[in-house]
Parts: sequence; C-alpha cells; structure tokens
Amino acid sequence: MIEASAPGKLFVVGEYAVVEPGEPAVLIAVDRYLHVRLSETATPVALSTSPHVQAAIGTVAELCAARGIAPRHFDIQIESELDEQDGRKFGLGSSAAVTVATIAALDALYQLKLSPFERFKLALLATIQVSPRASGGDLAASTFGGWVFYRSPDRVALRAHHAAHGVVSALESELWQASEIRELPAPADVRLLVGWTGSPASTEELVDSVSASPKTGNHDALREAFLSHSSKLALSFAAALESGASADQLFEIIRASRALLHRLALDRGIVIETETLSALCSIAEEFGAAAKSSGAGGGDCGIALVKPENDIPSILRAWEQHGITHLDLDVAGSAATRIGAEDER
Ligand code: MEV
Repeated sequence: MIEASAPGKLFVVGEYAVVEPGEPAVLIAVDRYLHVRLSETATPVALSTSPHVQAAIGTVAELCAARGIAPRHFDIQIESELDEQDGRKFGLGSSAAVTVATIAALDALYQLKLSPFERFKLALLATIQVSPRASGGDLAASTFGGWVFYRSPDRVALRAHHAAHGVVSALESELWQASEIRELPAPADVRLLVGWTGSPASTEELVDSVSASPKTGNHDALREAFLSHSSKLALSFAAALESGASADQLFEIIRASRALLHRLALDRGIVIETETLSALCSIAEEFGAAAKSSGAGGGDCGIALVKPENDIPSILRAWEQHGITHLDLDVAGSAATRIGAEDER
C-alpha cells in the first residue's frame, strides 16, 4: 500500500486577486492532512467519484501513456482531517489536498520520479479541468508547505495548451514562467489563530461574482485599483517576512488587507466578511491582535495574528461565545506532501 498525505491551506494575503495570472498572494499550509491510501488490485475496482480525484487520475494516466508506462489497477481510500465529522468542510482546501495527495500516490505507484514542482503542475492541470478559475494557490501551499509566496500562471492558456498538445507539452510550456512559488520564512514571535465560523461558503460562486461586472463605478478602474492594492500588500507582506520585520508591520498589512476585501465586497455586492467573521476580527482586535477572513470568505475560516503578550485565552473564550470554533492548528513544515510506501520505496 502507498500512502500520500497533503496538508490543508489558508490564505493570508492576496485572495481573489491571485485568480488573475501573475498577481501575488501569501498562503500557509496547515498541519491538518488529507490521506490517500492506494493499493494495487488484480482487477479494476470502482474508484472515488470525486471529480478532483478523477481529474488527477486522468492527468497522470495521460502522462503514463505518453511515457509508455502500462496502466495498473488500484483502489484508493481517502481519509480527511480537513472536514468535520459530519462532512462539513472547514474551508481548508480539501479539494486541493486530495488532488495533490492523489498525484503523489500515483507518482509513487508508477515510479515517475516527479519533482514537487512537476507534481504541482500536474495538480493544477487536473484542477483546471474541474474548476477553470481556481488560482492553484492552495495546490502550491499543499505541495510545498510552510509560508508560501504564489503567483498563478494563465490557466485559460494552459488548459487550451493541454487540450491541443497533451500533458507532456503542457508540463514543459513557457506559460509556467509567469507562475512563482517561493518559500517564505516564518515570522518570529507571531502566532496564528484560526477560527471556523461553521458556515460553508461556495468559493466558485464568490469568485464568479467578483469576476462579473460590479454594480457601481467603472469596472476596469475598480478592478485595476483592487489588483494593484492587493499586489502591494502581498509583496510587502512577503518582504516583511523576508526581512524579519516586526509583528506590528505584519499586523498593519493584515488590517489593510481586511479593509481592501471590504471594499471589494461592497463594489461587487457580495458578502465576504459575514457577521460571524466580523465578530472574529473585532474580538481579535480588542485584544491587540490583527485578523481577517481567509480565502473566499462568506463563511469558512478567519485568521488572527497574535503576539505572545496578547491574551489568547480571552480571544478564544470570546470566539466561543460568538459560535466561532477555534481550530487548533499550526503551520505545516516545508516539503509538506508526505509519501510513504510499505513495499514500494
Ligand atoms: C479561495 O480560497 C481563494 C480565492 O482567491 C480563489 C482562488 O484562489 O482560487 C478566492
């Protein structure tokens, strides 16, 4: 049996803007994992109906065929720490994690010897068959772990290139040059708190609404202003981590990023920061921390950056009183995707 595990993710800065090719974001991988267990079988078995798993299997099958590797039969079992017991999602990127872990398990099965960047590329090629707008930031965090700086490639062009020229050519395409994945140093003396609001959100619907024409003003000017402001914030957050800047500097960027998402939501007539996410942020602010929604918002999780002297127990108590569940998780280490095999490696 081969087991591959991939961590969940959280956006720190740059959500929504990162959907545009080349726009930067900062994410973290979290130490909750999705596990894929793959066992070879003598005959074909019915596999997971998850479109992400199927797309991952199909993309690797295409690569194997191109390399002249004979297909094998296998069964796949999935166990996720990224969902509640009752199946509700935490918004920690379980679709990305299942894609990354499935590709890692198949890499081990077929001994493809893929690099982490090649696994990421395959995961993105698979994902955009199911969710064409997805930025792939979650796949980068899930593959590389730690604090991650990310810029997406042009997925419309990649998908077209894949369809026209096949997976080998798509993996080698120059289109990846617009993409960037870089590990960032973790901040010293800053802890991350994650609160879950209990209500799930549809990332795809929210991203579609953001891409649609805004209700007011000039669409292009608003879009450009949002992208340029978001880019400055993501770049300055990455620079602050790389230069070991103070917690206060990081806090300012988190607060500015929260304000920017507020404006985006107003312009597009959508709700990113729900009432519960607002409460999560106000409570954290009351105790000297800085907080914002993470990812698409509309429910799911919020994050707070806290200093050691902030009263964490009081933040968590107040969160609980407002129906916010503290998810006790930390940043996953780098080289986050773990692959183990009992009899293969
Ligand atoms: C969702 O977690 C984050 C978005 O930026 C969408 C994406 O990056 O694919 C809203």
